[in-house]
Amino acid sequence: MNIEKIRSNFPILSTTVYGKPLVYLDNGATTQKPKCVVERLEDIYYTTNANVHRGVHYLSQHATDLAEEARNTIQKFINAKHNREVIFTKGTTESINLVAHSFCQRFCKEGDEIIISAMEHHANIVSWQLQEEIRGIKLKVIPINEKGELRIDEMKKLITSRTRLISVMHVSNVLGTINPIEEIIEIAHSHDIPVFIDAAQSIQHLPIDVQKLDCDFLAFSGHKIYGPNGVGVLYGKEHWLDEMPPYQGGGEMIKSVSFAKTTFNELPFKFEAGTPDYPDVIALATAVDYLNSIGLPAIKRHEDALLKYCTEELLKIKNIRIFGTSGNKCSVISFLIADIHHYDMGMLLDKMGIAVRTGHHCAQPLMHELGIEGTVRASFALYNTKEEIDLFIDGVKKVVSMFS
Ligand code: ALA
Repeated sequence: MNIEKIRSNFPILSTTVYGKPLVYLDNGATTQKPKCVVERLEDIYYTTNANVHRGVHYLSQHATDLAEEARNTIQKFINAKHNREVIFTKGTTESINLVAHSFCQRFCKEGDEIIISAMEHHANIVSWQLQEEIRGIKLKVIPINEKGELRIDEMKKLITSRTRLISVMHVSNVLGTINPIEEIIEIAHSHDIPVFIDAAQSIQHLPIDVQKLDCDFLAFSGHKIYGPNGVGVLYGKEHWLDEMPPYQGGGEMIKSVSFAKTTFNELPFKFEAGTPDYPDVIALATAVDYLNSIGLPAIKRHEDALLKYCTEELLKIKNIRIFGTSGNKCSVISFLIADIHHYDMGMLLDKMGIAVRTGHHCAQPLMHELGIEGTVRASFALYNTKEEIDLFIDGVKKVVSMFS
């Protein structure tokens, strides 16, 4: 990988913060956008803007073609069997809410159970808790071990005849653990239980083939994969999506409407009520093309090297605790040093131009499990360099010396 060339595709990386060169290590929260994505958006608005699926005129047809080509790009990217299994949403959160709402409405009765895990993001907890309120379903939680790995032995014990779905994240946004989703899916399917994969923190690092994985649902966000904000993807196997009722009502999701009876459109439009965010959908496909032009295996090798180097250097600092010590990790390091508050560390690093995330990372139950309030988190992307890790480590050491 030619990192210098890659970095030149991301103008924001040459910005300065408080007069210092920006070191952006908050990629788990959102990634920066390459020029091609921003230019694509600009181009759509300047040359092609018209509502999709609604016009006989040239611009509308052209925008529709581009948006549907984007769907095909996503289909190929995750190797879905059909393009109608790719639903565009606002992001991972909306994708999870859609499935929680529509799946539970169709398949869950009071007392039925959904299994999630102790390391989930709030999106994959609260969406199901809403269904606990509405439908009286019960949530069960897979515990983690001291390395921050899922206890698959315990997961097996949670499965009962009332289990309707297992929903887990692929990669933890806090611990960096890569969960054994192949094994989880195999176990779940041996009990005829479908599996939802939250791929928000994996899709930008690991190749994903939904047919090979055989997952039933999978979700990710555009903004974490070098694409635009406000657009995301829900993949679902056709037979599940076919049986599930719509999530929202509005234009385009119907076949016919009368006050007596409304019938719904076919997939994927049944789940895409209202004017879709087609400019962002089209630019998301540009981001995927960009990623593919570099190649996920090369990106993974590069990010793994950064993770290894950063972990080794951090471990040289006295009184450091790294949260998430699995041998199978991806692009994220969470830590605390002595009794330095994570906000203090984050704010002082910021003054040195270094952007990290601090706090509970939308995973308060996990923080509770770990017995802490929050961590400092560095998360890497394809454009980060070893020199940036050096600046980060120097910064962390400076903060430590200020407190000692
Ligand atoms: N879920 C995102 C993160 O972990 C925002 O930072």
